[in-house]
Amino acid sequence: MGAHVAWLVRSSASNLIFTLFIILSSAVISYGEGDADALLKFKQSLVHTGALNNWDPSKSPCNGTKANWNGVLCTNGYIWGLRLENMGLSGVIDLDALARLPYLRTFSFMNNDFSSPLPDMKKLGKLKSFFLSNNRFSGEIPDNTFAGMRSLKKVYLANNNFTSKIPSSLASLPKLLLMRLDGNHFEGQIPEFQQKGLRIVNLSNNNLEGPIPQNLQKQNASFFSGNKNLCGPPLERCEAARKTEAPADTKPLKAALILLAILLGLVLLVAVIIIGIYIVKRRMNRTEHLRLQSSLGNQSNSPSPKTRTPRAATTEHAKSTKKADSMKLSFVNKEKDTFDLQDLLTASAEVLGSGSCGASYKTLIMSGEALVVKRFKQMNKVGREEFHEHMRRIGRLNHPNLLPLVAYYYRRDEKLLISDFVDNGSLASHLHGNHNAEKPALDWPTRLKIVKGVARGLLYLHNELPTLAVPHGHLKSSNVLLDQSYEPLLMDYTLAPVINTEYIHHLLVAYKSPDFVKHRQLTRKADVWSLGVIILEILTGKFPTFYLTQGNANDAELKAWVNTIARENEVFDEEMRNTMNSQAEMRKLLKIGLACCEESVESRWEMEEVVEKIEEVNSR
Ligand SMILES: *[C@@H]1O[C@H](CO)[C@@H](O)[C@H](O)[C@H]1NC(C)=O
Ligand SMILES: *[C@@H]1O[C@H](CO)[C@@H](O)[C@H](O)[C@H]1NC(C)=O
Ligand SMILES: *[C@@H]1O[C@H](CO)[C@@H](O)[C@H](O)[C@H]1NC(C)=O
Ligand SMILES: *[C@@H]1O[C@H](CO)[C@@H](O)[C@H](O)[C@H]1NC(C)=O
Repeated sequence: MGAHVAWLVRSSASNLIFTLFIILSSAVISYGEGDADALLKFKQSLVHTGALNNWDPSKSPCNGTKANWNGVLCTNGYIWGLRLENMGLSGVIDLDALARLPYLRTFSFMNNDFSSPLPDMKKLGKLKSFFLSNNRFSGEIPDNTFAGMRSLKKVYLANNNFTSKIPSSLASLPKLLLMRLDGNHFEGQIPEFQQKGLRIVNLSNNNLEGPIPQNLQKQNASFFSGNKNLCGPPLERCEAARKTEAPADTKPLKAALILLAILLGLVLLVAVIIIGIYIVKRRMNRTEHLRLQSSLGNQSNSPSPKTRTPRAATTEHAKSTKKADSMKLSFVNKEKDTFDLQDLLTASAEVLGSGSCGASYKTLIMSGEALVVKRFKQMNKVGREEFHEHMRRIGRLNHPNLLPLVAYYYRRDEKLLISDFVDNGSLASHLHGNHNAEKPALDWPTRLKIVKGVARGLLYLHNELPTLAVPHGHLKSSNVLLDQSYEPLLMDYTLAPVINTEYIHHLLVAYKSPDFVKHRQLTRKADVWSLGVIILEILTGKFPTFYLTQGNANDAELKAWVNTIARENEVFDEEMRNTMNSQAEMRKLLKIGLACCEESVESRWEMEEVVEKIEEVNSR
């Protein structure tokens, strides 16, 4: 029953592109015999199918999580997705053939050459997402094309050649989250979108007109740009338009309609209540009946099959809901609730690094968002509820210098933490990596900016988490990411409360501080010490070698590193250019760094004091 997780790693020649798969369940589900047939039928109506040459009927499309056929996404031996992008495909998309794949939940045919009208999507009633952007799909989309697609979350039709009104069936999909219709010729008014959970509705660059419906008024104005005649919030007001829309003489008619609707509603309500009472009564009768029968059955040692089936069915149901729950990502940031575990599993993933706590991966999910997935094994210190509670607490933290947690995945022996991807690498890679035109050495003003950002993020953590033994606990240069403008973002913070006690000494940087190494005690000032190490590392460009010592850092080694820096005359990193005018300020910061590394916990400064002093340092 327990889900079984395995990460299969595939490497290619120069860069390591890893594909991360999770086998969601060890339960063996036999794939439908017809999967291969259905796909081959689907292929028949496509044109230019060179990229699908390995769709070989003598092999089954899926073997467990591995796909034998190009572009097929597999779990447990069945097909749950198709990803046929950038293949020059055209022709007709045969949804009748795809409808024969019982587990198909997503497909992407983006960046191809399809020019047909949109097929009748409701034939795939269980679809969760589809991606058809960047083709030449054309013509009208009938109003009821999406009717009844109760699971559909993402609709990507951007940059095609559609000309109709926006189908009203799209506006009433209960789960819709993301919709991209930008870059088409959609016309007429925008229908009333009813979903509360809509995140992105991109309608830019079409021919839409009239007022923007209320439920979309909080969307970013850029999603409506490039339409000549849209009005109302978030765009400009539209008095004139409204007058022509709703002439006064339709008002009585409207009122009558509303009255009729209310009456109908009342009648329906009464009917529902009566039916409800009837069902409950019947059920009560039946359970009575069952209990009676089963106790009778026990006595006679032969329960009739009739009494067993409904019970078995309920346990099955309970099991499957439990399983569905255990495969769910928990979002700490509701705004970001736009992907699910399956999106992550099929995303192509690139290993970013394997830190002491676990490997981290960059994954690109189908909608083009980049995320970082970090995988932790040694995180069983607390039970499920406490873990959830701690993650929610981390999720509430909000500071420009903290990399926000977006979601997490809980399993007893493994956790995944998911955050946004920041694309300028880590501080460590900038300090110690190779430099070139694209990645020049950091200059002094940038280094000072990074120190200030790190200090602010730390101070925020210390203020927000006054009760924790050590609020960050794992501050080091490889855990500081830089964004495009070199603003630092702290990651892997506040994990001490959930990391297994027996490993924590090896895993977290705070345990390498003199507080722990010498005094066997962890204090909040361990973070001050880690900040000191980062300051010295930034100024000197020297890697703190004692980090590499397995287990507890050797006290002497640690002192030696700090002392070499304190002693040397020419300590500053030569790669910092144009530092002539800034030597005095740099020395000021060096002193702060050394003071943070003060061995005695009592005489080491408090976080507030350090941050105040750092703020006083100027770049020249
Ligand atoms: C499925 O894959 C496994 C290992 O990847 C292999 O040993 C096995 O022969 C494959 N089965 C089929 C039917 O291809
Ligand atoms: C878009 O559709 C129109 C007719 O509906 C056609 O004339 C035009 O060539 C199409 N544009 C593209 C880029 O396919
Ligand atoms: C919205 O559409 C515009 C125009 O196609 C595009 O440039 C922009 O990236 C889209 N934004 C989102 C969030 O989809
Ligand atoms: C709207 O989108 C633009 C462009 O993507 C972005 O710069 C801006 O910050 C967004 N505004 C809001 C309020 O989200």
